Amino acid sequence: MQRSVGYTLLFATLVCVVCAVVVSGAAVLLKERQDENALLDKQSNVLEAAGLREPGVSLPPDVVAERFATVASKVIDLATGEVVEGVDVTSFDQAKLTSDPETSRVAPANPAKVNRIPNQAMIYEVLGANGEVEKYIFPVEGKGLWSTLKGFIALGADLQTVEGLTFYSHKETPGLGGEVDNPGWKARWPGRKVFGPDGEPEIRVIKGRAESPEAAPYQVDGLSGATITSRSVTYLIQFWLGPDAFGPFIEKHRRAA
Ligand SMILES: Cc1cc2nc3c(=O)[nH]c(=O)nc-3n(C[C@H](O)[C@H](O)[C@H](O)COP(=O)(O)O)c2cc1C
Repeated sequence: MQRSVGYTLLFATLVCVVCAVVVSGAAVLLKERQDENALLDKQSNVLEAAGLREPGVSLPPDVVAERFATVASKVIDLATGEVVEGVDVTSFDQAKLTSDPETSRVAPANPAKVNRIPNQAMIYEVLGANGEVEKYIFPVEGKGLWSTLKGFIALGADLQTVEGLTFYSHKETPGLGGEVDNPGWKARWPGRKVFGPDGEPEIRVIKGRAESPEAAPYQVDGLSGATITSRSVTYLIQFWLGPDAFGPFIEKHRRAA
């Protein structure tokens, strides 16, 4: 049966409208669940960096919530190193702050290829039984070979000893730069020291194998066949723990400790 052009156009328009309503309805209805999952994912990654979750083991939401109960989220003014009070940490969006010129500044030229620095950033503190800080967890990110690597580094209460490192987002090549996710490589970080005698971040990923943390406190094994990603890891850690990012906070709390 031959249909008129008007009928065909009307039919196509109706199909488009119905599909658009279904897709946008699903997006709106699932937004809350997506936000919850994003928060859960972030908390799981913080727990891994803090050594409170085995790498690669996914935990049910109630266990994540239970373990995260010992973690305090704090928003820091990066320039002063002061904690900013009264910020809603559940909706704090560092990426959004970073892309807005009102709430960020241009980064000085740096090898991690960080373009903008947010005025405020969120860190996490793992608290002991008496409320004392046992570990600090800092977000880090920088350009690798193919992608921006995003992760967390955990430092001990001395703000000098590495407790863990994890990346939750990158697109480096599996088997090469993607080995940043290898639990064996990540296990090479705890016990290493970050700051040299001059107070500057000294820790670096070397080419080849590093000696024990006692013999080579500032060195970590390189990823074989992935010198570019390895170097990027050095750069991004040195940048974020350095004077343009978390340096003022670290300085202040190390003096107070
Ligand atoms: C397809 C392909 C993917 C690669 N992926 C990575 C990578 O993810 N990270 C990296 O550092 N090097 C990667 N490389 C290798 C780099 O081009 C470069 O050769 C390497 O970083 C040098 O490291 P090496 O001195 O340890 O051999 C890749 C090379 C090829 C051909």
